[in-house]
Amino acid sequence: MRFAISISLTPPNPAAQRRPADLVAIRFVLRRSGFPGEGRPGGFAGAMRASPMPPVRLTLGDHSMQYHAINFAQKLGLFIEQWQPKVIAEMNDYQFKVVKLQGDFIWHDHRDTDETFIVLDGLLRIDFRNGSVHVGPGEMFVVPKGVEHKPYAADEVKLLLIEPRGVLNTGHEGGERTAQNDVWI
Ligand code: NI
Repeated sequence: MRFAISISLTPPNPAAQRRPADLVAIRFVLRRSGFPGEGRPGGFAGAMRASPMPPVRLTLGDHSMQYHAINFAQKLGLFIEQWQPKVIAEMNDYQFKVVKLQGDFIWHDHRDTDETFIVLDGLLRIDFRNGSVHVGPGEMFVVPKGVEHKPYAADEVKLLLIEPRGVLNTGHEGGERTAQNDVWI
């Protein structure tokens, strides 16, 4: 008997760009070719029809799981703009965003949620109306819900923000410093 094996590679789907563009589906199709018993009840062909061999679809990564780590440095290397958070992952309704900051921001608060800053590189200062906190590499700080704050960085800081999906960087202040939300890289 002879079998024909075809392998097709499905390129990344442009519609899936919310996720890393490395979604690769490999499909193996095993097809019977020219088997002499084709059409005979009870023969091999009949058995194939009774319990057909489905195409084996091996999907490397989908919307539920990908088998490689998300690398902060790699993600941070994908953009240069500052004050524009980029989503790199979600956990339930929370998003993980990398962002580069330098200089001063505006006073704002988030009425409905706390906001977590995890500094990856550089030195971040978060000002409050009655004080400030310095957050360095490997450190984090949680700004409580409703507390006015203003991030500041003398030199560029790279950090990870954790907050619920839909939270704007300027809270409810609006204005030109408001970044486009839900931008994935
Ligand atoms: Ni904030």
